[in-house]
Amino acid sequence: MMGRGLLGIEDLDRDDIELILDTAQHMKEVGEREVKKVPTLRGRTIINLFFESSTRTRTSFEIAGKRLSADVVNFSPSSSSLSKSESILDTAKTLDAMDPDAVVVRHQVAGVPKRIADVLDAPVINAGDGAHEHPTQALLDLMTVVENKGRVDGLTVTIVGDIAHSRVARSNVYAFTKMGAEVRVAGPPTMMPVEVESLGVKAFTSLREALDGADVVMALRIQRERLSGSMLPSVREYNATFGIDRAKMRFAKDDAIVMHPGPVNRGVELSHDLTDDRPSVILDQVRNGVAMRMAVLYLLAGRKRSRNEEAS
Ligand code: CP
Repeated sequence: MMGRGLLGIEDLDRDDIELILDTAQHMKEVGEREVKKVPTLRGRTIINLFFESSTRTRTSFEIAGKRLSADVVNFSPSSSSLSKSESILDTAKTLDAMDPDAVVVRHQVAGVPKRIADVLDAPVINAGDGAHEHPTQALLDLMTVVENKGRVDGLTVTIVGDIAHSRVARSNVYAFTKMGAEVRVAGPPTMMPVEVESLGVKAFTSLREALDGADVVMALRIQRERLSGSMLPSVREYNATFGIDRAKMRFAKDDAIVMHPGPVNRGVELSHDLTDDRPSVILDQVRNGVAMRMAVLYLLAGRKRSRNEEAS
């Protein structure tokens, strides 16, 4: 289904996404049991290889692996031989020689998970690479919308913020358009990729127009680490123009939900009360992250084949 790993939503078709969503729904039921563990991946090994900081993704991949009874190894770059100038690819090949069944990679540079996947036997799961893709985030976002709205097809989804530097935006644009939603993006012109409409979305610099009639409003984190000074309006100006609060939510549908991948800059992308309370579904997203990562690990770590087997 996903070839030799999950590097991006761009590579998936609608059937792939539906299979992953169905699998995640079953996995969610495991997480609701008193004993949240099944033997599905017993004897399998998963390595978390995070070169960039993470709370939600790294922890939920670890919990997901453990709920499936896999052995989960959290590789720490700072205390590894990377500090003795070993290259990332040599590090990855060294870990692959220990025969893991899946390697989960986050890196601040776009394309690193793909480069690693090209030299590994184990399937590689992209846990976020630079401004490129964050596929499991988009999948858990789809799952959260289906839970709250009953469908994705025909919904209007408005993504607000730093579209140009957001891997979450890119993966969600692919995910929601493939599943039949109308996707709108809104943000300051400096944060809007050139020719963004070629991705099948409608682009707005007026938040009011972008929110008009929206079913789902997704605010994005300001990516300070990926922005140069001239691209970032003052925080006060950004919040006044593109920050989401209850007053601005009146432009969206009455039953619209608010999403954010986290971490939230409170009072910048989202008002404090919207961060904490309905219609925000932020903690639903986090909760679904475990089930979604269980589904992806189940579909990939249970089926490792060597390059030689694939070639023959
Ligand atoms: N949404 C997300 O990727 O959060 P973390 O950086 O905490 O993993």
